[in-house]
Amino acid sequence: MPGATEVLRQEHQTIKGALGYAERIAAKIDHGEEASCDGVARLMEFIHLFVERCHHSKEEQILFPLLEKKGIPAEGGPLGVMLLEHDRARGLIEEMSAAAGNGLAPVSAKRWMQAAWDYSDLMHDHFYKEEEMLFKMADRVLSQEEQTAIAGAFNLLDSEKIGPGKHEQLQMMMEELIGQSA
Ligand SMILES: [Fe+2]
Repeated sequence: MPGATEVLRQEHQTIKGALGYAERIAAKIDHGEEASCDGVARLMEFIHLFVERCHHSKEEQILFPLLEKKGIPAEGGPLGVMLLEHDRARGLIEEMSAAAGNGLAPVSAKRWMQAAWDYSDLMHDHFYKEEEMLFKMADRVLSQEEQTAIAGAFNLLDSEKIGPGKHEQLQMMMEELIGQSA
């Protein structure tokens, strides 16, 4: 069974695929082409449930508090920066949702495009910091037993937050979507 940081790294790969899909939709809008409303709706569902409700909750509710207990500074330190970026991401998701809620008419499509670009840039940068800095610190302070126990808690969190089986379903849905044209 993969440890906690490995689970999060693997989820980053799926989320990076979703960001690539978002950028393909944004490029279509930028070129004045019509984007798939169904694709946008499914992407937004993935971002709300897989990224926000599950992935960020795993970090905010389970991993980060444990790392703080292990002496990694929160406020003003790496954990505080990660939390601020999660908040910024939430703001951009709200912006994307509001724009998508208007059915991606030309004006809201441009609004969606800009927010999606900003969101993708922010998340790529955020994942880089987590993978290259925070997760490496976590790997130093957590034992293999702790990594396994946290990974178990992550599984429970997924079922509690979005229902049993839904996390895997979203992952498969996203992989399918990544393989399609935007
Ligand atoms: Fe994060």
